[in-house]
Amino acid sequence: MMRSSSHALPLGVLTALLLAHFCSGIKWLTLSNSPIALHMNNSQQCKLLPNLVPTQTQLCRTHLEIIKTIVQAAREVKKTCQKTFSDMRWNCSSIEISSDSPKYRPDLDRGTREAAFVYALSSATIIHSLSRACGLGEITGCTCAKRPDEAPGPDFRWGGCGDNMAYGTPLGTKFVDAPMKLKRSGSHANKLMHLHNSEVGRQVLRRSVELKCKCHGVSGSCSVRTCWKSFQDLKDIAMDLKSRYLSATKVVHRPMGTRKQLVPKDIDIRPVRDNELVYLHSSPDFCTKNEKLGSVGTQDRQCNKTSVGSDSCDLMCCGRGYNPYTEKLVERCHCKYHWCCYVTCKKCERTVERYVCK
Ligand SMILES: *[C@@H]1O[C@H](CO)[C@@H](O)[C@H](O)[C@H]1NC(C)=O
Ligand SMILES: *[C@@H]1O[C@H](CO)[C@@H](O)[C@H](O)[C@H]1NC(C)=O
Ligand SMILES: *[C@@H]1O[C@H](CO)[C@@H](O)[C@H](O)[C@H]1NC(C)=O
Repeated sequence: MMRSSSHALPLGVLTALLLAHFCSGIKWLTLSNSPIALHMNNSQQCKLLPNLVPTQTQLCRTHLEIIKTIVQAAREVKKTCQKTFSDMRWNCSSIEISSDSPKYRPDLDRGTREAAFVYALSSATIIHSLSRACGLGEITGCTCAKRPDEAPGPDFRWGGCGDNMAYGTPLGTKFVDAPMKLKRSGSHANKLMHLHNSEVGRQVLRRSVELKCKCHGVSGSCSVRTCWKSFQDLKDIAMDLKSRYLSATKVVHRPMGTRKQLVPKDIDIRPVRDNELVYLHSSPDFCTKNEKLGSVGTQDRQCNKTSVGSDSCDLMCCGRGYNPYTEKLVERCHCKYHWCCYVTCKKCERTVERYVCK
């Protein structure tokens, strides 16, 4: 069985990445939907899963179906994180599921800014996924959100299928935060940091709730509009969290009153704000490879010669320079519409110059 032996503290939702890996190995997920699963009771199945802390195992027993959603959410975290950071030196390579053993690079355990982002995104994603899975009929015993209490606007009525936040929020929160609520294992400072950032993720998610509407009536007339409450797309939530990542606050673990708490390290004395991401340890510059610090370096990363942002060749390559190469793109072109109803296109080749860091 797989273990993340180098990590004393099991990581909240990242646990689910291990699950994802484990499950793809034994087809446990498909099993749980098949008649064979009937012969296996929940406690047996949940015992098969590695790296769960007791609260999570208990949630698994009582809500077996949510594990599948949580595993999907974990994959979503990885994908979204990598997309959001594709223009940065740190490109979220820390969440890797390699073919032999899944592992986290140590930077996520050290309480860095990157860890802050990953925890916040994880906690938002799990709730996002659980709340939406209800409406998709993936979890028995829950459905679309119940109709909001407030009156609808003058130009619409409530309808459609809202994300069931009342279901997803408590369950997702409990699962993600369980490892940090353990008495044993992990430093108190680290746990406070992860719990705080987890909550920031949920706050961003809650504030992302928007109305989605659909028009009804004779073609396009929109004489009747129904609306429901829905979270924004994860990529928008991730972008919001990325800007909080860029302005995250370094904190120290200090006695405040009767207990030790996290307080900003800079001189102006103020409590930590509940909408800012916080971190305990500075990150390396991620320019060069350093396994210990969880940096894979930027060698061979693609950079953008005309950009002035973080993906510019100057910044991405840390001044080491870059190598050009050419890439042939095949595109559809000279498309023609034929009556009725099809389109024919030619294939055109275009050569583009690209650059990778030395
Ligand atoms: C589940 O299976 C385990 C192991 O076979 C058994 O000890 C336990 O009593 C079973 N629980 C239920 C609720 O059937
Ligand atoms: C992240 O960067 C590393 C190091 O250059 C690279 O090997 C990896 O493919 C990148 N990952 C993604 C998702 O772009
Ligand atoms: C490079 O950056 C420029 C300016 O930000 C942008 O317009 C362009 O699409 C980028 N090119 C690539 C290949 O990403």
